[in-house]
Formats: sequence, C-alpha cells, structure tokens
Amino acid sequence: MWSLTKATILTLASTHFLPTLAFPVSDPYGAQRRRELNDLRARNIVADSSDIQSSYDFIIVGGGLAGLVLASRLSEDSNHTVLVLEAGETGDANITQINTPADTYYTSLVGSEYDYAYQTAQQAGCANRNVSWPRGKVLGGSSAINGMYLVRPNKPEINAIHSINPNDTDDFWTWDSYYAAMKKSETFGAPSADIAAEAGIQYNSDSYGSSGPIHWSYPGETFNLVGNWTPSLLTLGIPTNPDAASGDNSGAYITTSSINPSNWTRSYSRSGYIDPLPPRSNLDILASATVTNIVWKSGTSGNLTATGVQWASSSTAAKQTVNANKEVILAAGTIGSTQLLQLSGIGPSKYLQAAGVDVQLDLPGVGQRLQDHLSGSLVYSTSAETAGDMHNSGVDTAEFLSYINSATAYVNLTTLLGSDSASALISSAQAAVDSSTTSFLPLGDSTVAAGYKAIYDTITNQFYSGSSGQIELLLSITSTNVLIQAAIQHPLSAGELYITSSSVFDYPYINPNYLAHDADLTILREGFKLARLVSQASPLSAYLTGETTPGSSVSSDDDWNTWIKSAVGTEYHPTGTCAMLPLELGGVVSPSLLVYGTSNVRVADASVYPFDLSSHLGAPTYGLAEQASTIIRDYWNGVSTNPNSTTSTSSPSSTASSKPANSNTNGAPRLNPANDLRMFCAIIAASIVML
Ligand SMILES: Cc1cc2nc3c(=O)[nH]c(=O)nc-3n(C[C@H](O)[C@H](O)[C@H](O)COP(=O)(O)OP(=O)(O)OC[C@H]3O[C@@H](n4cnc5c(N)ncnc54)[C@H](O)[C@@H]3O)c2cc1C
Ligand SMILES: *[C@@H]1O[C@H](CO)[C@@H](O)[C@H](O)[C@H]1NC(C)=O
Ligand SMILES: *[C@@H]1O[C@H](CO)[C@@H](O)[C@H](O)[C@H]1NC(C)=O
Ligand SMILES: *[C@@H]1O[C@H](CO)[C@@H](O)[C@H](O)[C@H]1NC(C)=O
Ligand SMILES: *[C@@H]1O[C@H](CO)[C@@H](O)[C@H](O)[C@H]1NC(C)=O
Ligand SMILES: *[C@@H]1O[C@H](CO)[C@@H](O)[C@H](O)[C@H]1NC(C)=O
Ligand SMILES: *[C@@H]1O[C@H](CO)[C@@H](O)[C@H](O)[C@H]1NC(C)=O
Ligand SMILES: *[C@@H]1O[C@H](CO)[C@@H](O)[C@H](O)[C@H]1NC(C)=O
Ligand SMILES: *[C@@H]1O[C@H](CO)[C@@H](O)[C@H](O)[C@H]1NC(C)=O
Repeated sequence: MWSLTKATILTLASTHFLPTLAFPVSDPYGAQRRRELNDLRARNIVADSSDIQSSYDFIIVGGGLAGLVLASRLSEDSNHTVLVLEAGETGDANITQINTPADTYYTSLVGSEYDYAYQTAQQAGCANRNVSWPRGKVLGGSSAINGMYLVRPNKPEINAIHSINPNDTDDFWTWDSYYAAMKKSETFGAPSADIAAEAGIQYNSDSYGSSGPIHWSYPGETFNLVGNWTPSLLTLGIPTNPDAASGDNSGAYITTSSINPSNWTRSYSRSGYIDPLPPRSNLDILASATVTNIVWKSGTSGNLTATGVQWASSSTAAKQTVNANKEVILAAGTIGSTQLLQLSGIGPSKYLQAAGVDVQLDLPGVGQRLQDHLSGSLVYSTSAETAGDMHNSGVDTAEFLSYINSATAYVNLTTLLGSDSASALISSAQAAVDSSTTSFLPLGDSTVAAGYKAIYDTITNQFYSGSSGQIELLLSITSTNVLIQAAIQHPLSAGELYITSSSVFDYPYINPNYLAHDADLTILREGFKLARLVSQASPLSAYLTGETTPGSSVSSDDDWNTWIKSAVGTEYHPTGTCAMLPLELGGVVSPSLLVYGTSNVRVADASVYPFDLSSHLGAPTYGLAEQASTIIRDYWNGVSTNPNSTTSTSSPSSTASSKPANSNTNGAPRLNPANDLRMFCAIIAASIVML
C-alpha cells in the first residue's frame, strides 16, 4: 500500500502538482504551512461534538453519497449554515483501503466496521436464505466502499419518473434536466490510447461533464480478456455501444469508473465534494453521530414541522439535540432514511404502533415497494492472465491497483427471449398484476397498491417492450477465474422494510421479496443462459477452459431455477421505500422531495426512485443530489436556477444563471474581500490536499 502512496506523490510532483503550486517547494516554511492548512481544512469535518452549534439552517442526516453532495452545494450559499450528521466514522483510519480502487476486491471494506452488514429476512424465492445487504457506514457512505461502476440510466426510465409524477411541473425529473445535473457532478477522463485499444473502450466525451467533482474515468491497467468482451457479445446480436452515457445505455461496453486518473484513487462523495473545499465557516460535518429521530414542533395542526433532530454517538450515549432553522434533509440511504421517518412517527401506522412508536402521520408508502437488483455469477477457469493472478504474484503499482471490473452489457427483453417469448412473457406478467399486488404487499393499503400497479404497468408496458436492459451482464476478472455475471434490472417483485423497535440501533426488517414474481425468475434464468452463451462465444471462448459454477450438470430450466435460488445475491441497488410518487399512489415525497404532510423535511437519496433503473445507482444518485440541491437552494433563495423550469418563482435578475452568483467554478464560496488572508489560505488549502 505504501508503494501506492509513494507512486502517487511522484506522479503528482512530476505532472500535476508543481505547476499549480502556490508557493515554491523549497519554501522553508512549506511544511509548517501545510500543517496549518490541513488544520484549516479539517474544520469542515469537525472533530468533536462540542464544535457544533446549537442550530443550523439545514441539517443533513447521513454523510453518504447524496448527503455530501448536498452539504457541498448547500454551503455554497454563504448565508446558509449546514450540518451533516454521519453515523459512521470519518474513514481516516482506513483511508488507503478506501482510496485504492482494487482494494474493493482484494481487501474489501464490506464486512468491516464501515459496513452495516444488514441481512434480509429469509427469502422464500431464494431457498429461504437470509441474503446479506452491505451498506457503507463511513463518510462517503456506500460510495466509499462500492464497486465504482459509473453507468448512466436509460433515458426512457428517467422520463418515466417524470410521467408518473404529474406535479413535476418544473421538469426536474425529465431526462434533459437530469442529464444536465448528472453532468454537473462529473469530470470525464479519457483512457490512454493503449488502454482503450486493449480493452476495446469506446466513448463520446461530449456525453460527460468536464468540470464536476466526481471523476468518470478508466483504470490505468487492463487485460486482454477485457478486450474480448464486446466482440464476443456482438456475435450474439448485442451491439457495442460507442456512446453509452447520452441516454441510450443499451448494448455492450466498458463503462466508466469513479477513479481519479491523476493519482488512481477512488473518486467518491467525500474526496470529490468535500476534501477539495476550503474551510467554510457555514459547514460542519460530524462523524460518529447517529441520528435517532426527527424532533417535531408540538401543538400545531396541519403539516408537521421539524424543529431539529436528536442524535447519539452510540446506543448507550445520551441523546443530544440540534435545531434546524429551515429544513431537515434525510440522506441516510434506502434503509436509513426509511428507518428514520418511521422512528419519527411517519409511516404505516400499523408497523409504527407494533414497534412502540407514536404515530405522527400515517403515511403508508414509507418502506413499501422495496426493490433490488438480484445477481449471480457463472465461473470459468481460464488460460489467460487475470487481475487476480497479477495480484497474487504481488504486483502493486498504482496503475495495477486501479484495475477494477467495468465491462458491462444491458440487454433488452427481445434480445434476451426472442420476440415470441417476449410477447408471451409480457402478456402473462400483465395478467398477474392483481395477484402480485395482494401477495407482495401484505400491508394492504389501497394507495400503495395503486402505486405498485402504476409501476408494474410502466415496467410491463414500456420497459419490457422498449430499449431498456432487463438484464445486465458483467465480466469479472479480479479472481484467478473469469466470472460472467447476470443481474435483473426491473423486478416486478417488491417487498417492504419496517422497524421492529423504537431504537435506531436495532436493524429493521428488510424483505425485498426476491424472485416472488415468476417473470423475474424467467428473466434472470434467461440472463444466466445468455451469460453461458457469452462464455461459448468467440473470441472469449478461446481463453476459457471450463465452467466450474454451476457447471454442465445445470442445463434444464428446472436445474437453473434450483441453482439460481441457492446462488444469487444483491447487486446492491435497493430503492423504492421513500418513493417519489403522487400521494394517491402511496408516494412518500413530492417532486420537490418534500415528505408529504411535512413542511420542511425532505428525502434526497437512492430511496426515492419509484422503480429500479437499468444502471448501478451511484451515478444517477449524484445527479439526484445535484437536483435536490438546486431545488432546495432555489426554494430558500426565491429564484429558479433550473433553465428548463417552467414555473420560476421570482428574482428575475438571477433566473438566467445556473450557478449562484457567489460560487466559482470549484463550487467554493467567493469570500468576502475583507477576508483576504483567509481567502489566500483557502486557495492554498484547496491545492495542498493533493498531498
Ligand atoms: C458493496 C456495494 C457495492 C456497490 N457497487 C456499486 C457500483 O459499483 N456502482 C454504483 O453506482 N453503485 C454501487 N453501489 C450502490 C451505491 O453505492 C449506492 O446506491 C449509493 O451509495 C446510495 O447513495 P445514498 O446517498 O442513497 O446512500 P449511502 O451512500 O449508503 O449513504 C447513506 C449514509 O447515511 C448514513 N446513515 C444512515 N443512517 C443514519 C443515521 N440514523 N444517522 C446518521 N447517518 C446515517 C450512513 O452511515 C451512510 O453514510 C454499491 C453499494 C454497495 C453497498
Ligand atoms: C481500520 O483501521 C483500524 C485502526 O487502524 C483498524 O483497527 C482496523 O482493523 C481497520 N479496518 C480494516 C477493515 O482494515
Ligand atoms: C433471517 O430471517 C429471519 C426471518 O425471515 C429472521 O428472523 C432472522 O433474524 C434473519 N437472520 C438474520 C441473521 O438476520
Ligand atoms: C433544457 O432543455 C433543453 C432542450 O430540451 C436541453 O437541451 C438542455 O440540456 C436542458 N438544460 C437543462 C439544464 O436541463
Ligand atoms: C433490443 O436490442 C436490439 C439489439 O440491440 C435492437 O436491435 C432492438 O432494436 C432493441 N429493441 C428495442 C425495442 O429497442
Ligand atoms: C399536485 O399538487 C397539488 C397541490 O399540492 C395536489 O392537490 C395534487 O393532488 C397533486 N397531484 C398529484 C398527482 O400528486
Ligand atoms: C404543507 O406544506 C406544503 C409544502 O410547504 C405546502 O405546499 C402546503 O400548503 C402545506 N399545507 C398546509 C395545510 O399548511
Ligand atoms: C443567499 O445567497 C444567495 C446566493 O448568493 C442569494 O441568491 C439569496 O438571495 C441569499 N438569501 C438571503 C436570504 O440573503
Ligand atoms: C488524488 O488527487 C486529488 C486531486 O486530483 C486530491 O484531491 C486527492 O487528495 C488525491 N488523493 C490521494 C489519496 O492522494
């Protein structure tokens, strides 16, 4: 690991760091100044709870992927104060493991103290197994421990979110607006010519952002096996997509990864949105602070108004209270945000009462329609060199340690099944809507049922017959074998998540109801059959020397079904539990992400997608958090900064600008000229954190 750090410093010194250095390296005071500046930088992430104020304008619950985007963007308005409370640690104790991309595979933080390590309830569709559900518990949240795939969703899926929400009159959830928000969060880095040629990488740099905080890039090392991916899929009628980021994400390609190519480190919400910031006196981030509940203003009728939150540093520590002058924003992830609404008295009253929580508002959709992508791997022995082989032989250059898997393919239903079988599956699925609603959602609420049906119709009428991938195929070469994985993208199965105690420290009941719907099993089974065909397709087949899992004894549909139930697990993309849907459809948040029935509580994280998208959820969630930040800033500043908004509020002087007047291109506040010294320090601090 130390060799990575050394290589990193050398690379920076020679190519990047020196030219932009604000003071000469020979400066005898350099080291001291660096220490001082690091102290300044650390002021955004406060060391201890005595450093926080008694109230803030915005309290962000959860410093994960979305939470730190919000923290960064909301604190660009220097007139707003922002506090982030994050349950996990800062990550500093294990920062090399977070930063090193390949450690995702070789020394994973999954299962460590930075992982909640949830378990689902026993899954009847998965041979009664409890399926493990990792979730990041550290600054950066799951973006600090995830697999770093960056995949854009498909345009029709985003437009379907808009269509199912007629009150999205500002068009925040149309493709055009959302695409712009995703681009705002990213900086594209092209692969070297050698890497592109060996891996078969094609891209259109115009489809990416060029000045945002998160790096969209490619590893600094690749393998011949990777270059065999797209040509092999082509022989099966799956075209290579040369521009997968501009709205059509279908077909085969080597996708982008969240890697900073200047030093081959993980680019995640903390390193992208927080670490490069100068100290902001209006932003505090406190780690190891678990929010236990929202505090409500008492004695009012109508909307619930949050006055703040309570938090504790552990299950045995005393609760402390911090007040919110404007809003409480839940960004605690699909499990955390759902759990917190319920613990705060918002959710299905039946489940809240059973858990001993006073009902503030019976909002039945909270925790309902939990969905996830389900995946599994076929394993092949190989004669070719894998990344796992190289790792075992001790190679540890920074370039090698940036190699992570990123070959993917999104395959639509017609390609998967053929048009006749696809039509038959669509008809039989459509006929099963009522029985599915009754059996998957035992709560029995009619608005939740209506929402489930609307989603079901969207999937079976639009996505099944459209271009969206129903199966994602992936290539993994980070072990000594080759894995070809398949994952279902638009499950009709749905389940629920609810608290069973009144303490945030007790894990909730999590039931995604995997494979409860026959159509899901059919699609996943056909996905695995296709994965096997990929292994037999040229040129990849020449390097594979046998299928070790599940092997040739699994061949009939019944064999596959049995194997699937015993072998599949999460693709880590749970969503749906705080769905953005009309209230009549059992929605939890409006298109402004405001929780129905509250005047100042929003949810802004991966829990609000009404249905799972055909993509990994990281990339879309950066876009979602950017949109959320714009919505919130517009609301409190009385302006519209969304150029495509049809109903701008006021302040005509600012409506044309998509960037608030007080921010520069780094998203850092323009400081008061009276504060020259501080500004000087701030600029240097922004450069020095590269060390
Ligand atoms: C192992 C793994 C691999 C993945 N691989 C990929 C991938 O390759 N590509 C991809 O795009 N996506 C991937 N994902 C998914 C992606 O990381 C998530 O979809 C994304 O991080 C969700 O963002 P979020 O902000 O909703 O939640 P998170 O990033 O999980 O953040 C939620 C934060 O809230 C905090 N929190 C929760 N409860 C409380 C509380 N009560 N008080 C205070 N803080 C709280 C948590 O500790 C956490 O830091 C993966 C996820 C995992 C777990
Ligand atoms: C993280 O760092 C701490 C402190 O050094 C150490 O005890 C722990 O084992 C590390 N965790 C992992 C997963 O490496
Ligand atoms: C497995 O699921 C069952 C019920 O579905 C539950 O009672 C049990 O606690 C779960 N086990 C774990 C380890 O979560
Ligand atoms: C606004 O809409 C136009 C036309 O649909 C689109 O080209 C543009 O990218 C959109 N801009 C934003 C910021 O959404
Ligand atoms: C499904 O994928 C195939 C192969 O890319 C393509 O020819 C076909 O048009 C796609 N179907 C739809 C409805 O987009
Ligand atoms: C749209 O918002 C209005 C005003 O809040 C509300 O009355 C109406 O029910 C909403 N419609 C939908 C479909 O959510
Ligand atoms: C509740 O709050 C919402 C959002 O601020 C607002 O639109 C609505 O009018 C409020 N309702 C009542 C009864 O105050
Ligand atoms: C806060 O700052 C923003 C951005 O400069 C500005 O648009 C807004 O009017 C300010 N709000 C208040 C209340 O001063
Ligand atoms: C990697 O480089 C970025 C600048 O591009 C810097 O902010 C970051 O601190 C560096 N990371 C490490 C671990 O050196």
